[in-house]
Amino acid sequence: MAYENILSEYQDGKTVITINRPKKLNALNRATIQELHDAFAEADASKDTKVIIITGSGEKAFVAGADISEFADFSMGEGAKLAAKGQALLFDFVENLSTPVIAAINGFALGGGLELAMSCHFRVASTNAKMGLPETSLGVIPGYGGTQRLPQLVGKGRAMEMIMTAGMIDANQALTYGLVNHVVSQEELLSLCQGIAAKIMKNSSVAIGKAIKAVNANYKDGKDGFKTEIKQFGKCFGTEDFTEGTSAFLEKRKADFPGK
Ligand code: COA
Repeated sequence: MAYENILSEYQDGKTVITINRPKKLNALNRATIQELHDAFAEADASKDTKVIIITGSGEKAFVAGADISEFADFSMGEGAKLAAKGQALLFDFVENLSTPVIAAINGFALGGGLELAMSCHFRVASTNAKMGLPETSLGVIPGYGGTQRLPQLVGKGRAMEMIMTAGMIDANQALTYGLVNHVVSQEELLSLCQGIAAKIMKNSSVAIGKAIKAVNANYKDGKDGFKTEIKQFGKCFGTEDFTEGTSAFLEKRKADFPGK
């Protein structure tokens, strides 16, 4: 599929999606959110893509936020619709994909940019990255899941401070907070993510999809993560990947997962 605001490239089991509006620091306008939805859906549906990596183009920004120019004059109703639609199309959507998604944070990840990174299954940052939720400085609150996912990742107190101060933290502080898993130079960022993806790809894609579901369940209101884990665990026993994985172990050979 051809896109205007993003690039989507497949290679060796991985799809790299790059938000490509560097002049606007890759800010998320409506069209970009729709294109991201389409690209994620396409990659997730493809049998060949085992891991998705998302990053920003240029050296400055991952994503500098939702495109402020698009919502500055919105009414209350329009504001609520914007958040609901964005969450359904992109943020909740990405979090619940069964294909692992890694955010490669190559610069500013602010507002909707950090919210997008937090929707991914985990994050890797370059040393120049800066992260924050500046919404309260614009008189609004994070609306793409930031008030929920930031406390889940860094703890309530740190999240409160970041949201209330609207300040930015650097990559090393994000590492200390557990917001990102690794920090490397900008030049090494994508190759580190590709390396992690290669490790993921050795394992059962079916089991990974179920693990994502089970981990996420703990963070959903009204759902019991342990129960979901038991259910998903049980389902694994009916998959060909499970048969292959356990047989390979017992036969002392490497597993060759059929992905079913
Ligand atoms: N929405 C729309 N446009 C944005 C944007 C956003 N979130 N972030 C940056 N841009 C645009 C700027 O308007 C500017 O466009 P222009 O060249 O047409 O004037 C361009 O991207 C470059 O940004 P600029 O502010 O000149 O770069 P900088 O290096 O001086 O500052 C930031 C970088 C990230 C600190 C600054 O751009 C910023 O604060 N952005 C908004 C962050 C934010 O509040 N995000 C949350 C939104 S809810």
